[in-house]
Amino acid sequence: MQTILNVNDLSVNFDTSQGLIKAVDNISFSIKKGECLGIAGESGSGKTQTFFSITGILSDNGTATGIADFNDVDLLKLTEKELSKIRGKKIGFIFQDPMTSLTPHMNIGNQLIEVSMIHKKNTKNDALKKAKEVLDIVKLPRIENLLKKYPHELSGGMRQRVMIGISLMCDPLFIIADEPTTALDVTTQKEILKIFNDLKKYKDITIALISHDIGVISEVSDTILIMNEGRIIEKGNCKEVLTSPKHEYTKHLLSCVPEWMK
Ligand SMILES: Nc1ncnc2c1ncn2[C@@H]1O[C@H](COP(=O)(O)OP(=O)(O)OP(=O)(O)O)[C@@H](O)[C@H]1O
Ligand SMILES: [Mg+2]
Repeated sequence: MQTILNVNDLSVNFDTSQGLIKAVDNISFSIKKGECLGIAGESGSGKTQTFFSITGILSDNGTATGIADFNDVDLLKLTEKELSKIRGKKIGFIFQDPMTSLTPHMNIGNQLIEVSMIHKKNTKNDALKKAKEVLDIVKLPRIENLLKKYPHELSGGMRQRVMIGISLMCDPLFIIADEPTTALDVTTQKEILKIFNDLKKYKDITIALISHDIGVISEVSDTILIMNEGRIIEKGNCKEVLTSPKHEYTKHLLSCVPEWMK
């Protein structure tokens, strides 16, 4: 299988009034096309900043060094203008809280349509057709009605489905989902994870799934990274790492998962 993302010696530092903070410390990993990489680790371990750096959305006080080859193009070397053409088009980002990522005063239809009109220069009609297609993929019912609704009129699960829909508008090769189910109840969580599994299976989309919840990761991921204090503690096949962890930290993380979830 072809490697879609190859990260080498990636470090992320933040310049703060208290000095330099090393958020990501010289990590290397790769993701193959069509596979899901799960990224697990406690809060503050560097999961989010790893992917913020790759997609060029670090805070102003952050700097990234290293190599992040996406289809053989080093994302860390691109200008903001070049990166913005890849972000949202070839790479989709799904955040934890869909309420803050959706625009409150814009209806769902327009939020979906806007993405493909801007990035793909699609006509409104083509964009609308695509919007209906993606809402069907994320299994949202009564699409015509939904397109006219505003984010506050939807449940958390529906908003997250819309967010996934938005990320699919430009047929991305790669989706980064950062704690996509953390704010959701367990049943809705399962439904969203099923969508990720379907995207992998039927659309051959590559996924990076960030979660502090090993249970969530194990539902979708083929491979896994365990992060702690900005470093990769353990990586490999997801089932193997979770069934026979080699490092104490991974064992510790697993010991926090309730018995019935294993
Ligand atoms: N703008 C910033 N300035 C200074 N430090 C920052 C900044 N953004 C992030 N950090 C620090 O970088 C480290 C890694 O943060 P990151 O957001 O990657 O954690 P995480 O693993 O995603 O945690 P969580 O599970 O809570 O989302 C943390 O110590 C965090 O405080
Ligand atoms: Mg995070």
